[in-house]
Amino acid sequence: MATKEEVKRYWQENPLLSHELGDLGSASFFSELDRAKREDSDIFAMGYWEFGAFAGKRLLDVGCGPGWVAMNYALGGARVCAMDLTFRAAQLSKAHLKLREARADVIEADAESIPFRDGSFDVVVSSGVLHHTPDTPRAIGECHRVLKSGGIAKLTFYHKGILHHPVVFGFTRFVMNLFSVKHPGADLSKDAMDVDDFIRQYDGAANPVGIGMTTGQWRTVLRDAGFRVTGSELHFFPKRFIPLGRFIPRLVHRALDRLLGTMIYFHLEKP
Ligand SMILES: C[S@@+](CC[C@H](N)C(=O)[O-])C[C@H]1O[C@@H](n2cnc3c(N)ncnc32)[C@H](O)[C@@H]1O
Repeated sequence: MATKEEVKRYWQENPLLSHELGDLGSASFFSELDRAKREDSDIFAMGYWEFGAFAGKRLLDVGCGPGWVAMNYALGGARVCAMDLTFRAAQLSKAHLKLREARADVIEADAESIPFRDGSFDVVVSSGVLHHTPDTPRAIGECHRVLKSGGIAKLTFYHKGILHHPVVFGFTRFVMNLFSVKHPGADLSKDAMDVDDFIRQYDGAANPVGIGMTTGQWRTVLRDAGFRVTGSELHFFPKRFIPLGRFIPRLVHRALDRLLGTMIYFHLEKP
């Protein structure tokens, strides 16, 4: 298993979407990031995030990256603290918040050792982060610890679904090759790759840690940490990586997102 230092170095050198969008930290980078989230990865997840629902509440965003989630909650009136393992992500989040005239505290901190007292937050969110840290159960436990009793959490993870099933995976790769699905940062079409390595490379070929699990497996880890799992949704069928994918009709995209989403979004409560 990779070390925390390796994880930190990777994300410091390869912030989210740096393989795909140019001019990191510029106004056009943040506009493109917003478009990638609103029109692709999170197009059907805006209701899940409920950005306007936590005005006045203390909200922690664990692994904020370039700050899209934190910025949207801040604009919705939440009292946001955004944290990330890397200095680079903290810098990008600060620039993003400033550009959109949103206010939040931004700190460098490790999800496996969150520097806040028990029960400090009304809401804890984390978008696509906790599967990247070497000790995922520990980081999930930390999210639970800093949440108040009765508080809610929204945590999202890589999903291992039907497309990754050993019987189906060969077909998945065949279809990817047939439609020339191109993933920036990694060649996911290579035949030798096994399922876990395929998932690890979603955020770049050299990404040291990226764990995908089935809904049931994630539920077990979340329950073991003390969360009540009140629901889950699949999202992110990455149509922007498919040539001519922009012509996929919205209804079809929605069905693919629900059935074949590469991420799982959990609704959680701390009893
Ligand atoms: C895929 S990006 C997601 C960024 C952001 N949450 C979003 O959805 O736009 C993963 C982020 O997790 C951060 N990260 C990885 N391990 C972490 C840890 N142990 N503690 C805090 N952040 C971590 C990385 O630095 C990176 O910014």
